[in-house]
Amino acid sequence: MSIIEPNSLLSVPTGQLRILELPHTTEGADGESVYFSLVIPTYKEAANITKIVEILCSLLDEALNRDYELIVVDDDSPDGTWEVAHSLSQQYPQLRVMRRQNERGLSSAVIRGWQVARGQILGVIDGDLQHPPDVLLRLLHSIEQGADLAVASRHLEDGGVSRWNFIRRFLSRGAQVLGLIILPGVLGRVSDPMSGYFLLRRSAIVGATLNPVGYKILLEVIGRGNIGQIAEVGYVFCERREGESKVTWKQYVDYIHHLILLRRSTGKFKKIHFPIGRFLRFGLVGLSGVFVDMAVLYLLHDPTTLSLPLTRSKIISGEVAIINNFFWNDIWTFADVAMQQREWRQRLKRFLKFNIICLAGLVLNVLILNLVYNFVIHNAYIANLIAIAVATIWNFWVNLKLSWRVTQVK
Ligand code: GDD
Ligand code: MN
Repeated sequence: MSIIEPNSLLSVPTGQLRILELPHTTEGADGESVYFSLVIPTYKEAANITKIVEILCSLLDEALNRDYELIVVDDDSPDGTWEVAHSLSQQYPQLRVMRRQNERGLSSAVIRGWQVARGQILGVIDGDLQHPPDVLLRLLHSIEQGADLAVASRHLEDGGVSRWNFIRRFLSRGAQVLGLIILPGVLGRVSDPMSGYFLLRRSAIVGATLNPVGYKILLEVIGRGNIGQIAEVGYVFCERREGESKVTWKQYVDYIHHLILLRRSTGKFKKIHFPIGRFLRFGLVGLSGVFVDMAVLYLLHDPTTLSLPLTRSKIISGEVAIINNFFWNDIWTFADVAMQQREWRQRLKRFLKFNIICLAGLVLNVLILNLVYNFVIHNAYIANLIAIAVATIWNFWVNLKLSWRVTQVK
């Protein structure tokens, strides 16, 4: 069907995200194995790709005498990254390019790249030059010294981040701490579990079915692979010169989801079963309710708007917030349960239960506020925070058990 030329685009593997043993027989140019396969996932990196390919090729040509391959996996970038990369492959025979049109996401891009890789050593590096290429040689050396996995780390002595602001540092560290709590057996093994720059032996990951959720493919490798010795090499995460980061708030949600999935399937902490992901979603929805409540209160009560009496306004705004929260919890927080019971009567029933439970939560809130204020800490705001926290847990737990009954659906 297609014209086979030496540097045509790689076809995209389908099916499970699993890396296989290399075939022992080497037939034809495509079947030839190489020593090292480095995947460069890209999305909108047209301004960087030429430079990084040039740097990597000159580095690796010298170090490995061309016994390597670079695999660019591009998700059909609108800036034509894959086309630019493909046009380079004449000049750099070690370069192979995959254009994915039916699948998206950083983690699955890396895994698809490894699936077509022909090397015994597999690796990944960002395509935006934020990962200094020369660190590769030290990573390779570590693998040669016997490590199954060699990770470039920002948190070693000679590592760091260049110009991150406080918030970004805080979020990055916060994510790590959260991960350590949920999955100490995985995140505790390396100093920089968020690293997207590492090498591993193919044999350490052969046969494991990987999961594409989340941005953090390293967690997947450590969690599901068969990793013995791990080495780390410090590096400084450079600033981006061209293009922009694809990290959005969604990655934080995905990250938490990813931790939970890994924890479940690695089965290390089966006993404690608090649905953290759901709880966080529930909390976010609750927060959205605060804004709805405020906005409605303003519309009804403010002298410049309807200027209705305060209590009447508050009852309405509170109820609108409850409706808002129910809506989002039903289509997001508990979507999986709601999908099994989607008739309008069933929804209405859930809504009524939710309403009653939230009202009870409000009563509990007031009670606890008074108790804490009078008997524990004589500070209304701290007491209120504690009351809100308890009421949130109450609301969540009772709604989980009664409104969206997980135990009912198998
Ligand atoms: N194919 C594909 N598909 N590539 C993607 C996608 C995607 O959906 N999203 C991002 N990429 C590519 C980018 O083009 C870039 O080459 C690399 O993945 C990293 O994406 P950035 O958006 O630049 O991420 P970052 O700079 O914020 O974070 C990086 O550094 C972290 C700290 O070391 C990533 O490498 C993280 O994985 C890493 O943990
Ligand atoms: Mn980047």
